[in-house]
Amino acid sequence: MTEQTSIIIRYFELRDLDKVIDINRQCLPENYPESFFRTIFSECPKGFALAEVNGIIVGYTMGRIESGLSLFSIFHRAKKGHTVSIAVLPEYRRSKVATKLINASSEAMREYGADELFLEVRMSNTAAVKLYESLDYKIVKELRHYYRDMEGAYLMAQKVKKSE
Ligand SMILES: CC(C)(COP(=O)(O)OP(=O)(O)OC[C@H]1O[C@@H](n2cnc3c(N)ncnc32)[C@H](O)[C@@H]1OP(=O)(O)O)[C@@H](O)C(=O)NCCC(=O)NCCS
Repeated sequence: MTEQTSIIIRYFELRDLDKVIDINRQCLPENYPESFFRTIFSECPKGFALAEVNGIIVGYTMGRIESGLSLFSIFHRAKKGHTVSIAVLPEYRRSKVATKLINASSEAMREYGADELFLEVRMSNTAAVKLYESLDYKIVKELRHYYRDMEGAYLMAQKVKKSE
């Protein structure tokens, strides 16, 4: 992509589902049934964001709101924005597509009342860990054997800045 190529971030619509499933299968070993994408969308529609370049969908992220114990204070409950999945097609990477997607989804989760944001990432996925660190996520826990193939995950999280 050239510096001038414009990346459009927009909300997911159900007509985009096949393309999102296609990107998910191309880019990640964690694949889900169609019903899972639909459920996430119905629960948290604005947390489901897409990136388009020249009218082509090149990436997505989806998040949802979960309530439970705070990741930062064991004595408190929190509303947590969970990034469930994110992927960008290989030829569109390193152009801040994922950064823009996460920023859009996080903003929506903040509007839905999230106090904290979190996600899981494979320990070997250096690109994704660096991406999340660049967006202020910190490793808060190691989850042993988290994935089906037994690889461990980092649980990464941050508190939502509630200034504005
Ligand atoms: C991880 C992924 C979503 C990143 O998407 P992207 O659009 O390339 O990310 P960005 O361009 O927004 O990257 C922002 C920053 O993250 C870091 N980063 C991203 N990819 C990186 C890589 N391959 N190596 C090192 N750092 C990387 C860099 O700090 C980068 O900033 P820079 O390019 O100015 O150095 C993409 O590589 C992908 O889809 N991977 C396969 C699916 C996946 O692993 N999803 C995450 C599951 S938890």
